[in-house]
Amino acid sequence: MVKIIFIKNNKRTEIEANVGASLLEAANNSGVELFGGCGGAGVCGTCHVYIDERFIKFLPEPENSELDILDIVSNSKENSRLACQVFIQENLDGMEVTIP
Ligand code: FES
Repeated sequence: MVKIIFIKNNKRTEIEANVGASLLEAANNSGVELFGGCGGAGVCGTCHVYIDERFIKFLPEPENSELDILDIVSNSKENSRLACQVFIQENLDGMEVTIP
């Protein structure tokens, strides 16, 4: 299990997530409110999150299709990702994920 800390409206929620689950699945399985409008297909942008800068280097680069969606979500930043396209890895233990 990997510890992930979701931050929404300045409230921190620490969860234990299974390796291989998406951040969206991990949030939803733990009662963290994170909407995934397209069910995790990576086409709607509602699961937009900001990734802890310290952990960006451990993540695979986003696919072009994810970048296309991030281009159209509001408040997109350098550390923006779609939670349904980021999968839990052992080396993400302690990562903070901010829900805008
Ligand atoms: S749930 Fe739609 S893009 Fe992630």
